[in-house]
Amino acid sequence: MRIDIITIFPEYFAPLGMSLIGKAVQRGDIVLGVHDLREWAHDPHRTVDDTPFGGGPGMVMSPQPWGEALDAVLGHGPAQSAAGGTSAATPTGGAPQLIVPTPAGAIFTQAMAAELAQAGHLVFACGRYEGIDARVVEYARDRMPVREISVGDYVLAGGEPAVLVMTEAICRLLPGVLGNIESAPDDSFGAGGGPMCGLVEGPVYTRPRSWRGLPVPDVLLSGNHAAIARWRRDEALRRTAMTRPDLVARLVDADLDARDRQVLSDAGFAVSGEDVAD
Ligand code: 6GU
Repeated sequence: MRIDIITIFPEYFAPLGMSLIGKAVQRGDIVLGVHDLREWAHDPHRTVDDTPFGGGPGMVMSPQPWGEALDAVLGHGPAQSAAGGTSAATPTGGAPQLIVPTPAGAIFTQAMAAELAQAGHLVFACGRYEGIDARVVEYARDRMPVREISVGDYVLAGGEPAVLVMTEAICRLLPGVLGNIESAPDDSFGAGGGPMCGLVEGPVYTRPRSWRGLPVPDVLLSGNHAAIARWRRDEALRRTAMTRPDLVARLVDADLDARDRQVLSDAGFAVSGEDVAD
């Protein structure tokens, strides 16, 4: 996968050089280009913003540098690159999609991460201030798939932290990026359709068996894999019921067995379908 990030704070993306994603970049499994928007601002102060038409507080990012930046990164203009980045001559690996982080976007989910992990080329356009002139997205929409995405119902000072969040969620799903390839289907939200589908994960334990007087649940030491899997699902159901009742409400009845219904009922949820035994 190729990922290009356009930002006025390229240094913000230093974390992408670390950990599993950093290694995937080093191997060349991920081709990462981080680009300074100011490269496409041509006045002496390399201005990228202006006052909003119609008045109001703050500043709006100007369409001109954004238009040129996108042209360049999409390969329609001169190649530009930043430290740690790559030239636009690098194969893009498929049709590019533009992602615009904004609190006004659709909420980012595990399912969206899984979908975006299938893309060959993602371009992230990080806005600051009050946002980017709306014509940039309007123009891009006629030429490529564009998604405006929010990482949650709160306001950040800019799209950069949201792009770090999204790239991590997307890249860990790429083949070979996770050390343990088995662990993705077990993740919370289980968009991989695994046993935790639609649930958050329950608690995990490691050695020692007893720590500060607190024992590890016996079942995990039993060697009984069916019992362990059942216990983990029970715990996931209980934790989801406690912390994410919205997710319980979305569980599909056909995906629940009698034991699932019992656990949810014990956690105070009215469960439809078969009767729950007392
Ligand atoms: Cl993507 N950007 C900004 N600035 N704030 C946010 C956000 C994005 N998602 C949630 N809040």
